[in-house]
Amino acid sequence: MGLFGRKLKQEHKVMLQAERAAGELLPEYHRATPECPQPGRWRMYDSMTAEFEVLEFLRTLVTTVKPRLIVETGAFLGVSTVWMAEGLRRNGEGRIVSCEFDPVVCAKAQEKISASGLAEWIELRNASSLEIQVDGPIDLLFSDSDLDIREQEVRRFLPQIAPYGLILMHDASSHPGRVRDAAKRLEAEGLISLLLLPTPRGLAIAQKRSAAGPGEPARAR
Ligand SMILES: C[S@@+](CC[C@H](N)C(=O)[O-])C[C@H]1O[C@@H](n2cnc3c(N)ncnc32)[C@H](O)[C@@H]1O
Repeated sequence: MGLFGRKLKQEHKVMLQAERAAGELLPEYHRATPECPQPGRWRMYDSMTAEFEVLEFLRTLVTTVKPRLIVETGAFLGVSTVWMAEGLRRNGEGRIVSCEFDPVVCAKAQEKISASGLAEWIELRNASSLEIQVDGPIDLLFSDSDLDIREQEVRRFLPQIAPYGLILMHDASSHPGRVRDAAKRLEAEGLISLLLLPTPRGLAIAQKRSAAGPGEPARAR
């Protein structure tokens, strides 16, 4: 129970746990899934922040495809934001617009970003992913907010995704399956091409399909 006997919100509980852990890496404890039967081979800072190996992957993806604009939904403590910003710093260009709905969590994320030395690459907004306005083509969308709104986020930003842009939906494992089902629905509608990485919490990687033909990203940038 939290202050005044109220139950602590999950985000606040994990935020306090993360503060106590002080950056220590733990074995991933997401339940085993058919596609990832040994999650303990991965590591994590906490159960909200993306798996450590996924953070490494995000940074490498940023240095590999050199996005000019990254949009992240759900910053939590800003850890994935900072890892992607590290990729941008190595690239020497680009920016991330990230949003965090919860004001208390957002303030903590801002502290982390300010202390990271990477603030110049990051614009963090205390706002909902379903309301933020971002200008310009999105080269990389990392959808990592509330499980039940990831599909809405992708649908909302899809028209703005650059022709060869990448869409990442975190937590797309077969358990609990909500994000995975959402990603498969978008694929079945012919909106995206989809790849499901067998990580503990699951990572869907997609590209927008064009009118040109299935699986063929639209041409011309
Ligand atoms: C899984 S955590 C994000 C973890 C973070 N991306 C990382 O890997 O370091 C999800 C966060 O999304 C936030 N959130 C939930 N709904 C949101 C919304 N509609 N807009 C923005 N943030 C939202 C929650 O408050 C929570 O902090």
